[in-house]
Amino acid sequence: MEDLRQQIEKRRTFAIISHPDAGKTTLTEKFLLYGGAIQQAGTVKGKKNSKHATSDWMEIEKQRGISVTSSVLQFNYQGYCINILDTPGHQDFSEDTYRTLMAADCAVMVIDASKGVEDQTRKLFKVCTMRHIPIFTFINKMDREARDPYELMEEIEQELGIETCPVNWPIGSGKRFAGVYERDDKEVIRFIPVDGGKKEVETEILKADDPKLKEYVEDELYDKLQEDIELLDMAGNEFSLEAVRAGKLSPVCFGSALTNFGIEPFLKHFLNMTTPPTPRMADGEVIDPYQENFSAFVFKIQANMNSRHRDRMAFFRICSGKFEKGMEVYHYQGKKKIKLNQSKQLMADERSEVNEAYAGDVIGVFDPGIFSIGDTITTGKKHFAFEGIPTFAPEHFAMIRNKDTMKRKQFVKGVEQIAKEGAIQIFTELGGGMEEIIVGVVGVLQFEVLEHRLKNEYNVEIHKSPLPYQYIRWVKEGTNLKSLNLSSDTRKVQDLKGQPLLLFTNDWGVRWAQDKNKDLELLEFSKN
Ligand code: G4P
Repeated sequence: MEDLRQQIEKRRTFAIISHPDAGKTTLTEKFLLYGGAIQQAGTVKGKKNSKHATSDWMEIEKQRGISVTSSVLQFNYQGYCINILDTPGHQDFSEDTYRTLMAADCAVMVIDASKGVEDQTRKLFKVCTMRHIPIFTFINKMDREARDPYELMEEIEQELGIETCPVNWPIGSGKRFAGVYERDDKEVIRFIPVDGGKKEVETEILKADDPKLKEYVEDELYDKLQEDIELLDMAGNEFSLEAVRAGKLSPVCFGSALTNFGIEPFLKHFLNMTTPPTPRMADGEVIDPYQENFSAFVFKIQANMNSRHRDRMAFFRICSGKFEKGMEVYHYQGKKKIKLNQSKQLMADERSEVNEAYAGDVIGVFDPGIFSIGDTITTGKKHFAFEGIPTFAPEHFAMIRNKDTMKRKQFVKGVEQIAKEGAIQIFTELGGGMEEIIVGVVGVLQFEVLEHRLKNEYNVEIHKSPLPYQYIRWVKEGTNLKSLNLSSDTRKVQDLKGQPLLLFTNDWGVRWAQDKNKDLELLEFSKN
């Protein structure tokens, strides 16, 4: 029992959110470097040849000879057991990226110091705020010309609607970047550039009022630093751990992942402020992570794209207790007991069979087609289901039709199965059949996944025509869509469960629907 508590207490489970190219992969790699999980950084980043064609994560795996896409990297650092959950970001940005955030306990937001808040960060941030999870900001690439740090803070506050509190503060940027001032210790960590940042950096720390500092920092930047220190203390948001943990205040650190600068200070602050896995709600009740009974939910299902290995993995986030290989669990949605035999976990250096895992961890379980996104498994007498994972709004739409009408059965079965796994969403006309299906996806790559899988697994070829819709909104069940006053290009559809939805070609249409139908509630995700 004591061991269980200790194991869970040292766990920290987070996701990194960022816009492509802000430095998520580089930062992840540097975390692994400092965690001792890899010996030399720089090998992972050989993306030039296949520039962004595949997941960053897959790229990491390929470099290290790991062949199957994973969902989590785990490593130990200073007595903590850290799980970094993958949030695919380039072309493979998909609903899975959002779902992963449902499994994380907090998020690290990486921002490019020259660009500020970008589109994909905004989208991912929205999902984090929905759950009120703590968000830690890392402002990256300070070794390049950066925007004014005050301006960056303001942009985060205004665009994302979260208060910020700088934990450290940069001294210059680009060629003049001299380091960061740590506000709690009142010390300056000097920036000593290293080539490519392959190894951990040596650090030199000076008191902010040490005269020696003037030898390294230009007069102008030195004076500016003294001013900034005063200004931040006077006018900045006051630090409150409570507000951080409630997701209302984001601690901000500055650094340069490429040159390993600011990684250790960031990890130190991050680990000081984060908590072990927090309780989750199930059927209106709080499930304590330290309870002896095991519980977990599926946040992602991944089918192997290799036609020779058509296995499927269901990824579970463990919410309480301890997992042991071969254990018998109750599958709430399937209303059956099952044995968890084939389970995998990705340690930082290899994908290995997992024998035990604890609340906070993620395990991949072989799925013979019985699991759906959001399903719960438990041990113990009490059966319960965790609050479901919402369905997130797709952003790309296409109409698909079966080329060979004789294969209607396979077509419907394949499309429904792939939708059930959560790779695509499907919609039909109100009261319409499955001859023509509207497919919605969060990332365009999912269309390719759909076509590939239908062909390989179900022997079905499809016609696909893109549709101009950009926005989807769920409406309250029971709303009579026919009576709504909508712009002529708005389409009324239903999802697999018969829930009514609206598709819009632009945000003007969304506003029209809202303005002309006062009682209409439009939702960006569906809670089911
Ligand atoms: P992502 O996963 O968020 O998409 O970003 P990634 O880490 O792949 O970084 C995107 C680019 O930014 C990479 O350059 C990377 O080297 C660079 N980068 C990351 N962190 C820093 C930093 O702190 N300072 C500077 N100056 N650059 C940084 P690339 O040219 O696309 O790749 P590569 O040729 O360097 O491998």
